[in-house]
Amino acid sequence: MVHHAAVTGWGWYSPAQILSNDDLAKIVDTNDEWIQSRTGIRERRIAGPGETTSSMATNAARQALEEAELAAQDLDLIICATTTPDHLIPATACLIQQNLGADQAAAFDLNTACTGFLYALAVGTQFIKGGGAKRILVVAGETLSRFVNFEDRGTCILFGDGAAAVVLEATSQNAGVLSTVLGSKGDVEQILSIEAGGSARPATAQTVAEKAHCIKMRGNEIFKLAVRSMAQSAQEALAKAGLSVNDLRAVIPHQANHRILTATQSVLGLSEDQMFINIDRYGNTGASSIPIALGEFLHANPIDAGEHLLIVAFGGGLTWGAAVLRWADIPAIKRERKESLLRKNFALTG
Ligand SMILES: CC(C)(COP(=O)(O)OP(=O)(O)OC[C@H]1O[C@@H](n2cnc3c(N)ncnc32)[C@H](O)[C@@H]1OP(=O)(O)O)[C@@H](O)C(=O)NCCC(=O)NCCS
Repeated sequence: MVHHAAVTGWGWYSPAQILSNDDLAKIVDTNDEWIQSRTGIRERRIAGPGETTSSMATNAARQALEEAELAAQDLDLIICATTTPDHLIPATACLIQQNLGADQAAAFDLNTACTGFLYALAVGTQFIKGGGAKRILVVAGETLSRFVNFEDRGTCILFGDGAAAVVLEATSQNAGVLSTVLGSKGDVEQILSIEAGGSARPATAQTVAEKAHCIKMRGNEIFKLAVRSMAQSAQEALAKAGLSVNDLRAVIPHQANHRILTATQSVLGLSEDQMFINIDRYGNTGASSIPIALGEFLHANPIDAGEHLLIVAFGGGLTWGAAVLRWADIPAIKRERKESLLRKNFALTG
């Protein structure tokens, strides 16, 4: 039996510390007016000294499990999308597995930068469709502030920290992830990169002095590529699902720049109400940006079973993609779970 993969729980975590545009203007030559008019960002959240990608992601994961009414032991897989893992080894997903006590779950990381959540959702969907997993935690976490050069005004204004998660669950309902489109093009020209700290350029005193462990980016080149690839993958994902923009309740895009989002919105012919934007309060939180936005959207806008969402992203790698989701009847999935547990218990005792 082919299963569909539906989101049945979600949650997000944002660190308490706020870094405003005025705060940044005290560090680099910039100002609130420039940042807001060029990016739409007012403030971003920054991880506290004791916080890491895994600790934030664990908080988000606990919320997602609670929303899904599942225990950590119910998970059979954890996929963590991150570009800013706690360590190179162990994988951040394994640390989350341990924090949660998800002792039945396999765990691995996936790095496709800001497209990470979308790729992780697509991989999780394939696991469910192939029968390899029934309940997956798809979690994204980023501590980008630790990879930002706070002397470079072209990048330090953009990024923020945070984490978010969804529970992806097998269902026989004709709902869940209806289509995915993924793309990539090796960024040999280093339009967006963290050059040092890997095997090509291991850490040395010189790489540290050069701040080569920080994000480098040619912003305006990315801008054009982002609009083009997000619009194209959104159209392809809709066509694959047999839907049009008019069928969408909302689009939850990767939040990189307000102007990228309004340009994509206009290419796709979406109404302002359909495009969910929260970049003003978070900046670009990398792989976490879509699931944080999804969590905020769902919190403010209850959604009915059968309604459609589109998620769309662009990121380093270079990578891009889109997915169409049909919202499942989540109470019915929870009921089915309980009934199947009762049947199992009855079979054991009977
Ligand atoms: C980074 C970004 C905001 C820059 O905006 P832009 O309109 O392209 O600006 P430019 O880089 O062309 O720079 C224009 C001028 O503003 C200046 N500038 C750059 N950052 C500035 C800042 N924070 N404050 C004030 N001035 C700034 C530049 O030095 C340049 O000055 P000059 O004309 O005297 O040389 C924009 O390109 C962007 O958001 N790109 C996408 C980045 C992205 O999404 N990356 C992640 C992908 S997932």
